[in-house]
Amino acid sequence: MEVSRRKLTVVGAGAVGTAIAYAALIRGVARTVALLDVNEAKVEAEVLDLRHGLEFVPGATVICGSDPSVASDSNVVIFTAGAKQKPGQSRLELAEATIELTRRALPPIVAAAPDAVFIMVTNPVDVVTYAALKFTGLPPNRLFGSGTVLDTSRLRHLLAIHCGVAVQNVHAYIAGEHGDGEIPLWSTATIGAVPLDQWRPLAGRDPLDAAVREQIRRDVVESAYRIIAGKGATNYAIGLAAVRITEAIFGDEHRVLPVSTLIADGPEGIDDVCLSLPTIVDARGAGERLAVSLSDDEAAGLRASADTLHQTQKHFDL
Ligand code: LAC
Repeated sequence: MEVSRRKLTVVGAGAVGTAIAYAALIRGVARTVALLDVNEAKVEAEVLDLRHGLEFVPGATVICGSDPSVASDSNVVIFTAGAKQKPGQSRLELAEATIELTRRALPPIVAAAPDAVFIMVTNPVDVVTYAALKFTGLPPNRLFGSGTVLDTSRLRHLLAIHCGVAVQNVHAYIAGEHGDGEIPLWSTATIGAVPLDQWRPLAGRDPLDAAVREQIRRDVVESAYRIIAGKGATNYAIGLAAVRITEAIFGDEHRVLPVSTLIADGPEGIDDVCLSLPTIVDARGAGERLAVSLSDDEAAGLRASADTLHQTQKHFDL
């Protein structure tokens, strides 16, 4: 889609929503960037600050408001509104307040932007995505979650550092929930053209053995907790991840991204839950999932992740 016709609305002017709007302007993702938040003073101040930088980014207009009509005719809507994760609090513990807020806030925005693709970022993103599909009745390709796109980026970063290669040459995915039960897909990961289990350390580098892999997995899972403990929220990387997904939609890129989609008749009998597996993202939103082969451990981990999400869905009567 021509940049001049693109409108992106970001719902929620908190640390994540403003990081997304900022990243979208820098990357020139859309001609119009709208920021929607119930707190008028806050959203106006954020947009004033963004407007003062427009000279330095590709041409764009930034608008804001507290009424859903500010989202009218958007092509992509990114939903970040919700309670903030407190230090040590798990994403799933956030669920109740956030599900109710989504139930209330999302339908009027869908009414204002009925043809948009909706990307849910609010945590716990998998459960919120599942709930949002119920609350809006949108088809699963047009409403999905940011899922483990950020976790995958964290995994690739840590593998790149350990192995001494550019992060762009690391192809590895985190699958399952965006949360404590997420699963690195080690068995299909490669560095350059080398499968991980055949990786030979470069000169002066340590091997990528099981202990190192487990430490990397733990570091990925604990990243958000560490950052939240230090600065109160994560925002830059999730902002960039959400904009990456948006670019794949606007650019009709057919990009493989581990977004959180409604799994029906999924691998290992997984069904009726939203979680992340490598998926084609293009102008229609989230399309076909790739048939990724899973090791026994990965399959067991994915089933456990799905069970956790099912229990939460049931707890909130979704
Ligand atoms: C994180 C938040 C986006 O993982 O859940 O940083």
